[in-house]
Amino acid sequence: MHKLAIGVLGASGYAGRELCELVARHPCARLVFATASDRQGSRARFGGQDVAFVAAEDARLGDAQLVFSALPHGASASWVRAAHDAGAKVVDLSADLRPGNGIALGSGSVPYGLTELARDTVRGAEIVANPGCYPTVTLLALLPLLVRGLVAPGATITVNAASGVTGAGFTPRRELMFAEVADDFRPYAIGNEHRHLAEMRAVLASLDCDADLIFTPHLLPVARGILATITVPVTEPLVDVLAPWREHYEGEPFIEVSAEIPSLRDVVHRNVVRITATMAAGVRAPTVIIVAAIDNLVKGAAGQALQNANLLLGLEETMGLPV
Ligand SMILES: NC(=O)c1ccc[n+]([C@@H]2O[C@H](COP(=O)([O-])OP(=O)(O)OC[C@H]3O[C@@H](n4cnc5c(N)ncnc54)[C@H](OP(=O)(O)O)[C@@H]3O)[C@@H](O)[C@H]2O)c1
Repeated sequence: MHKLAIGVLGASGYAGRELCELVARHPCARLVFATASDRQGSRARFGGQDVAFVAAEDARLGDAQLVFSALPHGASASWVRAAHDAGAKVVDLSADLRPGNGIALGSGSVPYGLTELARDTVRGAEIVANPGCYPTVTLLALLPLLVRGLVAPGATITVNAASGVTGAGFTPRRELMFAEVADDFRPYAIGNEHRHLAEMRAVLASLDCDADLIFTPHLLPVARGILATITVPVTEPLVDVLAPWREHYEGEPFIEVSAEIPSLRDVVHRNVVRITATMAAGVRAPTVIIVAAIDNLVKGAAGQALQNANLLLGLEETMGLPV
């Protein structure tokens, strides 16, 4: 069977390795190159296949029908352009081309690949900006309220989210060492200044939502997974509180709406977001509390990127994805 040729830039990183594994196991895809920077020349096994990492400069971009870029912010946009110029479709996992981040590729706009919101635009695109991990879980949790106009005008949406340490990438940092992280739990980027805020605000604005967002990320002593607790002032008390999510996501293969409170165990190694919601008791303004969980490396990165790639390549959206 003829398999589609896929290249991965930044393949030795956390998101890149997840991508290589998904591509190696995909029924219609084969890996034609995998790049690294410092670790060029080293090898890894993906789906039982032995792969050597090459420098991005040595990757034969023109051999690939689709390229994933899992390069760091700032390093990615020029490679996205180079891969596209070489004839490949591209899914960029970095923040470079996402809304609110300001880098333009020069010709036309690049769709934001929050697949459940934008699959019709993604289908006809050449390049897609894959969402960040925190924006994925936050925006998918909020979407049913946003599109129904249920968020109270001028409201402040509060997002407290905790991520496993792979969310910070592979580059060694003192505060990410085992002894610094294990048996502890702490927030970071407090003061509403995390770099994902621009992306989330831009998407809220595109959906005509004027709410403020207060976002506080936390570092969890686990390898992978994000759990977000989100409070949203709403226009009216919701009698059947889960109804907006059940209706909005009916038939969605990767969204699980449940009365059960989600935990990381429900979602790790899976391309799903699991969501619950309840009305807050004891407050004057009607307020919904949403809890949502994803695997930051799957639905928050490589899995969602493959969901978008399947659409770009005219394949079944769910193909090769762990549910
Ligand atoms: N980690 C997550 O949970 C997550 C979630 C969503 C999106 N993302 C995005 O995905 C991208 C990759 O994230 P990551 O966590 O996988 O990062 P990472 O673990 O640090 O990996 C970065 C990759 O890029 C390579 N690289 C670094 N600098 C480069 C340069 N100047 N030129 C060419 N290659 C270079 C690295 O090679 P060496 O290994 O040889 O240094 C490695 O393969 C980022 O843009 C990130 O924002 C990550």
